[in-house]
Amino acid sequence: MPSILVVYYSRSGTTRRVAGQLAEKLGADLLAVQDTQPRRGLSGYLRSVLEVMSRSLPAIVPTCTPLSSYDLIVLGAPVWMGRLSSPMRRFLNDHAPQIRKAAFFTTMGGKDAQRAFADMQELLGQPPMATLAITHAKVIHGQCLAPIRDFADELGKAAMRPAAPRTPEHDEPQPACTSLKWQS
Ligand SMILES: Cc1cc2nc3c(=O)[nH]c(=O)nc-3n(C[C@H](O)[C@H](O)[C@H](O)COP(=O)(O)O)c2cc1C
Repeated sequence: MPSILVVYYSRSGTTRRVAGQLAEKLGADLLAVQDTQPRRGLSGYLRSVLEVMSRSLPAIVPTCTPLSSYDLIVLGAPVWMGRLSSPMRRFLNDHAPQIRKAAFFTTMGGKDAQRAFADMQELLGQPPMATLAITHAKVIHGQCLAPIRDFADELGKAAMRPAAPRTPEHDEPQPACTSLKWQS
């Protein structure tokens, strides 16, 4: 059986819900990217907007999960301001070299998933094996079970395929990591 890890960031729970369902379907491990500072309320919203617009990288809880030991890592995050949300940007910035093969999913109010996927691909240095974009409304109304099931089927096959070639700038030394944050 290929080993699969679902890594997600979620500010308000929508992406977490999709990640959980996907991990269950895949029999995958689950890892949450976590803010070091709360991101609730209006101030958290405004900080999120500013981080995306300035492309800044917020602090996240350090992770020592052995990412390179997984055959496939599925990365999920919400769309913010038409782009990839900043905590997942930070995670990919720090950990891209450890990721052998990846797939992406986003949740969103309504649009811009493709730009978020392009951000993820640029940070990762390789194309995804598969992608899934789901609206917040579909998650809330329980209409995402069929797309998640189809995505999981596609990922099961993707995990068996060889990885795409990497770009050299992504094969650099790893940042030091100090703690492990698991959810299962
Ligand atoms: C700061 C911020 C900016 C957002 N920008 C967009 C956007 O540009 N396009 C969109 O479709 N949804 C946008 N959304 C909506 C979220 O992508 C959507 O609600 C998502 O499902 C939230 O995921 P979460 O609950 O896992 O945090 C934005 C949400 C926030 C908080």
